[in-house]
Amino acid sequence: MTKSSDIIIEASNITRTFAEGGLKTEVIKGIDFTLSQNEKVAIIGSSGSGKTTLLQMLAGLDQPTSGKVSLHGQDFARMSESKRGKMRNEHMGFVYQFHFLLPELTALENAMLPLRVRRAAPGFAEAEAKEILDKVGLSSRIHHKPSELSGGERQRVAIARALITKPSCVLADEPTGNLDDHAAQQVFDLMLTLNEEMNTGLLVVTHDMKRAQQMDRQYQLVEGHFQNHDEA
Ligand SMILES: Nc1ncnc2c1ncn2[C@@H]1O[C@H](COP(=O)(O)OP(=O)(O)OP(=O)(O)O)[C@@H](O)[C@H]1O
Ligand SMILES: [Mg+2]
Repeated sequence: MTKSSDIIIEASNITRTFAEGGLKTEVIKGIDFTLSQNEKVAIIGSSGSGKTTLLQMLAGLDQPTSGKVSLHGQDFARMSESKRGKMRNEHMGFVYQFHFLLPELTALENAMLPLRVRRAAPGFAEAEAKEILDKVGLSSRIHHKPSELSGGERQRVAIARALITKPSCVLADEPTGNLDDHAAQQVFDLMLTLNEEMNTGLLVVTHDMKRAQQMDRQYQLVEGHFQNHDEA
């Protein structure tokens, strides 16, 4: 049984409608969701089903049209923009399909960014970045820029950057979608291992059923609703 204090992200009956040129599309039609400490959850669904839209709301980066999303019991909608940014920086790490590393920075500098954002001392940020890059197996690549790394290595840097703040959860949108099957499995396994080691909640959006099955729970997004795959 999950204690309410273990809940990191909680969404209650959220919807999202996009209005374009008088045409309204309801992409998310009423979803309840929780992510707790140590939990690994997958959201699957076909292209255009609304996975990224949902993830953006769970991350506090987009506001639901109705319903509410809380992070550690605090409603995103009731926070100032700067408070939302601070809460995300403190409690969440992000990994995307296309790594979004800064091209002009080295692996070390990219991994340090979330700590620099919170104005941590440079020496501390660098030591932490070296430690986490070592954990993702990149200690020999720390001075390489993204263009000098393989796709899998770039995603490892992105994972290091997501975990450097020791967040309570990591949200990943197709983190292996851009890799071949072998690299994808390696990167995915690394993410699972590190999240377990660091007691981090993990929410992964993926097309990939095989990898979704490695998670504790799977939800399929169909026509704006979840179909629970617990008993599947
Ligand atoms: N800012 C926006 N304005 C209008 N429509 C949008 C916006 N963002 C998303 N949509 C629409 O919402 C639907 C879901 O998009 P979303 O990006 O969430 O899908 P997805 O499941 O992540 O797809 P993929 O697997 O291809 O990444 C799409 O039909 C898209 O056109
Ligand atoms: Mg998407």
